[in-house]
Parts: sequence; C-alpha cells; structure tokens
Amino acid sequence: MTTTTTSATPTATLLEANGIEAGYGASQVLFGIDIDIRAGEVLALLGRNGMGKSTLLKVLTGTLKPLRGNVRFAGAEIGGARPDAIARRGVAIVPEGRHVFPNLSVDEHLRAFARPRADAPQQAPRWTVDALYGLFPRLGERRNNAGNQLSGGEQQMLAIARALSTHPRLMILDEATEGLAPVIREEIWRCLATLKAEGEAILVVDKYVQRLLPLADRHLILERGRVVWQGDSAALDADRTLWTRYLGV
Ligand SMILES: Nc1ncnc2c1ncn2[C@@H]1O[C@H](COP(=O)(O)OP(=O)(O)O)[C@@H](O)[C@H]1O
Ligand SMILES: [Mg+2]
Repeated sequence: MTTTTTSATPTATLLEANGIEAGYGASQVLFGIDIDIRAGEVLALLGRNGMGKSTLLKVLTGTLKPLRGNVRFAGAEIGGARPDAIARRGVAIVPEGRHVFPNLSVDEHLRAFARPRADAPQQAPRWTVDALYGLFPRLGERRNNAGNQLSGGEQQMLAIARALSTHPRLMILDEATEGLAPVIREEIWRCLATLKAEGEAILVVDKYVQRLLPLADRHLILERGRVVWQGDSAALDADRTLWTRYLGV
C-alpha cells in the first residue's frame, strides 16, 4: 500500500471516515472503510460496478445511515446526520443520474439553492450566476430553458453548477461523466481542473481512470466494500496490474 503527500505544506484534514460499515437491509456492502480528504485535495474513488462506491458516498452525505463507523467533517461528527444538515456544513454531492427540476429554468436552478460558504458566510460569493456561466458557457446560452429542455450533458453541467452555487467546502461527484458524449465529458474535466486549480476539495467517482491521473492527487480503490489500494497518480499509472485486476480496464 502506498501513501504519499503531494503538497509541500501539510494541509488540514477536511473529511475523515473510519471503520464505515453499511448496507441495505440484510445485505452488507461496506466492511470497514477508512477514508480521508484534505483541504484542496482531489481524491478519486475507483472500483468496478457494484463495489460500494455510491454506497460510501451515501453514507458520507447522510442519505444512508452507517451500521458502524465515524464520519468527521471539518472537525464535527456528521456520521448518521441528516442530508440537509451535512449539506449545510458544506458537503455538496452531484449524485448518480441527473437531478434537475423539469420546470425550473437554468437560471432558477442557479439562484434557488445559492448560499454562502458555511465557514465564511461574509465572503463575497465566488460562484455567482455569472461566474457559473463563465465556467459553463453552454448554460449561459440556455439560461431561460427549463430543465426538461436540456440535453443530458447540459443537465449534468447544471447539476454541477447548482452544487457549486452552494459554495461547498467539499464537492462530491458520482459518475458525472457517465453516458455523456466525449466533448461534453471533456468540458466536465476542464471544469474540475479549474476547481482544483482554485483549491477546491473534490471527491470524484469516475470510470475514466486515464483522465483522472492528471486531475486527482490520490486514488482509492474499492473491491467488494473494502479499500484494497490507495496511492498517488504516479503509483497508479505505474502499476497496470491494478487496472486489470480492480478496474476492469
Ligand atoms: N438501494 C439499494 N438496495 C439494495 N442494494 C443496493 C442498493 N443500492 C446498491 N445496492 C447494492 O449494493 C452494492 C454496491 O452498490 P453501489 O454502492 O451502488 O456500487 P458502485 O457505486 O460501486 O457501483 C451492489 O451489490 C448493489 O447491488
Ligand atoms: Mg455507483
């Protein structure tokens, strides 16, 4: 197992989960997961379908209560807390699938949920509607269109932009590029690179490992509800047996 620190200065741990066990009814899915994310870090969560990635994200964001384990975010225990309470502390998730409101316009989506950073409510908002249209020009062109008039890629961009409008301290994306045309996927990668350059902490689940290498600081591989490997991009790039064994590529 490889662990590395990529930044020269030690940064604060933003999220830390220990010993997470969770499942659905009688079927246990996670068997003692430890995970930590530092401020400004991009962490990729990898693994084949059905290995427990989305289940872990549900525990971290409060939509699934863990059977055991602790989750701390910015110094506070949030394990088992309600999703809205966790969101208010600054954890935003762009969940699997597209979650836009069919009857709200793009502009309304970006205004309805906007709020300042939980830890710096006085700060001028970084992600104003105009800044979000700067990040995703396509959304600006479609600002008066309703959710149900958008393409799949536009809906995904809107889901990301809406999450950003809440000024999260940690942004979580679950398969955000799934099923999108390559050009749209590239636009989402570009957005994530911009966010990383601005020092945002991001937890990303995605199948395009090759594309995650330049983006993520660290990678964590799940196999049947357990962390089987973690390390930095250089280590993951160098060991292709990991790719065939755990990622099916
Ligand atoms: N709502 C649910 N009810 C019952 N089983 C579920 C539910 N969601 C996921 N599972 C099961 O939990 C396991 C892990 O799923 P998931 O966390 O979605 O994996 P991944 O995101 O890595 O593809 C799978 O076996 C899946 O069938
Ligand atoms: Mg999933």
